[in-house]
Amino acid sequence: MRMNAPDSTSSPRATVETLRWVGGNDGHLVLIDQTRLPRELHYLECRDVETVWEAIRQLRVRGAPAIGIAAAYGVCLGMQRCDGADRAACERRLGEVADYLAGSRPTAVNLFWALDRMRARARGLGDATVGQWQSVLLEEARRIHDEDRAMCHAIGRHGAELLADGAGVLTHCNAGGLATAEYGTALSMFFTAQDQGKRLHVFVDETRPLLQGARLTAWELRERGIPATLICDSMAAQVMREGRVQAVVTGADRIAANGDTANKIGTYGLAVLAEAHGIPFYVAAPRSTFDRQLASGDGIPIELRDPAEITHGFGRETAPPGIDVYNPAFDVTPARLISAIVTDVGLIRPVRRETIAEVLGEETGRGAITRGG
Ligand code: MRU
Repeated sequence: MRMNAPDSTSSPRATVETLRWVGGNDGHLVLIDQTRLPRELHYLECRDVETVWEAIRQLRVRGAPAIGIAAAYGVCLGMQRCDGADRAACERRLGEVADYLAGSRPTAVNLFWALDRMRARARGLGDATVGQWQSVLLEEARRIHDEDRAMCHAIGRHGAELLADGAGVLTHCNAGGLATAEYGTALSMFFTAQDQGKRLHVFVDETRPLLQGARLTAWELRERGIPATLICDSMAAQVMREGRVQAVVTGADRIAANGDTANKIGTYGLAVLAEAHGIPFYVAAPRSTFDRQLASGDGIPIELRDPAEITHGFGRETAPPGIDVYNPAFDVTPARLISAIVTDVGLIRPVRRETIAEVLGEETGRGAITRGG
């Protein structure tokens, strides 16, 4: 399914529909293929779990919450091919499919959190029929999807108060509607501030090497009619020095119990720069992005990606053959550099183990929400 990417600066749209389940137990997942934006808005139909795994791995669907939602629906697709009808067959297939999806990408905890939820939901099913397993798991995937939508809107409501009318803000990567069910996390703060009548100017880091800022965030901001200026990542210091930025806001892929935060490579550098210029650095994330089993960011697995993303970006050779390449996709920003974490249940400020526990509760597991939010 293909449509030309709209250029709708004159008529802003409320949201993008990043993922959609079509039909019932035997239905399928449709998602925006984000590797093709901004050139075209192409919807990919996923009719088996392998297609979902590939879509996550290749960043056709990306951003921590969106990966979790895709994985939950991926489980539903996997369960359509259950080899047998009894409880043992259903349990075996669920285990296989969840383990398989867990191997798609390592850093965003939302993936593992969503798979844990799907597994936990199945636990009480016992001798139910395959059809009942499928119905209950689809219902759980839909609930994960709906909860994310609600959490993103709540983040916007809590976070918009941090942004003053007329402020310049800087963001990195894409933490918008494309990275979530709808509305985003960092971008939700901008959209809500805009709805409140505040005028913001957003500086968008292009986000090397895969350009999520240039391709996706710049596109989403144009769709919403929010004034935005694209910069190379290396320009952030100069833009701050010129006094153009009053706040930095990013998303997160995994937040440890002490507030150390993994996000797209380059985020840590931005936090250091923000501190050097006396600019607040905010992280916006739903409860599903917290991993309180990890004491600190030292335990967060960092994804290493294909060197070709750097040497042959978008198909063009830009480095000599054989050059050694290091390509970590994420970095970890220490809690002490984060002015506040904006969650769906309120602001965490200052960012410390104790304040996180106060806002999220004492739970220690992966993600701080169980079924029903
Ligand atoms: O490699 P990506 O594009 O999946 O990385 C995404 C990010 O780093 C986002 O900032 C993060 O997932 C937050 S999305 C609300």
